[in-house]
Amino acid sequence: MIDLSVNLAGIKLKNPTILASGIMGVSASSLKFVEENGAGAVTIKSIGPTDRTGHKNPTVLAFDNRMVNAVGLSNPGVDTEVHIVKEAHERLNVPLIVSIFADTIDNFAVVADKLLETHPKIIELNLSCPNTDNEFGKMFALDADDTRKVITLVKKVTQGTDIKIFTKLTPEEEDFAELGKVVEDAGADGITTINTIFSMNIDIYSRKPILSNAYGGISGPAIKPVGIESVYTLYETVSIPIIGMGGILTGEDAIEYIMAGATAVGIGSGVYYRGIDIFQKVTSEIEDFMKKEGYKSIEEMRGIAHNS
Ligand SMILES: Cc1cc2nc3c(=O)[nH]c(=O)nc-3n(C[C@H](O)[C@H](O)[C@H](O)COP(=O)(O)O)c2cc1C
Repeated sequence: MIDLSVNLAGIKLKNPTILASGIMGVSASSLKFVEENGAGAVTIKSIGPTDRTGHKNPTVLAFDNRMVNAVGLSNPGVDTEVHIVKEAHERLNVPLIVSIFADTIDNFAVVADKLLETHPKIIELNLSCPNTDNEFGKMFALDADDTRKVITLVKKVTQGTDIKIFTKLTPEEEDFAELGKVVEDAGADGITTINTIFSMNIDIYSRKPILSNAYGGISGPAIKPVGIESVYTLYETVSIPIIGMGGILTGEDAIEYIMAGATAVGIGSGVYYRGIDIFQKVTSEIEDFMKKEGYKSIEEMRGIAHNS
């Protein structure tokens, strides 16, 4: 009997696939739809302190092997999102990861505090969105001190609850291993990696960047090796669980992440490339591989790329 379940910081997932934040997950219905298509857990689009319309179109470009987006964290703001999260909890059978972002360190605490009444199991701190400004003019995750401060503050807010705090990082931080240690020492229960990476496309006929925001974040198959490297590096450094993502389209991609050390895997752009049932497809491809290679559990495969 093959066991596809995983234990993510004490929370059981029936399979290791998770809907990444920002794709589909804007309402209870869309999150439910992803659950019905086989995801082991789902992440809501990042929630901020107030409503944001995001950037003007065009905001998303899709190519054969990559997407580039600058959606700009559009969301209706935490006061409205509280109701969406409550409804999602009522309708979902799989765990919901509640992703949050803010423009200041203090506002992370404000958003987390307002969400307490929804009893989230996991709050994911999006410290790594490349498309928005904050009080420092750069991503929080590019500064170890800011990263530590956000985690410490949010942990204070969630003290006395069993909410797990995951921190979403960017591989653009030079000393990624050191950042991982900072995150773990600050008390985070897990790490999500990677977010999209800074990028740009230029239309050579109109002679200007294509995205209205000029800069965007690249995702999809082209970034998979970067995601794998970041999981591999963190696995050598920290003992908290890692959700690995970036470019996963197939079961083989997911297994690569697991062998690098991921406890679970996120799928975002893959929904565009393989359809909404990518979660079922990836899970059954993982199972086929395990059968063929004689693995009985996901746990047996985790981190084994480090053994050679
Ligand atoms: C259109 C789009 C919107 C995104 N929005 C968010 C977001 O709101 N919060 C977040 O943490 N990550 C966001 N991401 C990043 C994804 O969650 C993921 O980290 C990244 O796309 C890499 O995974 P992938 O290659 O499977 O897409 C977004 C990605 C895309 C493509």
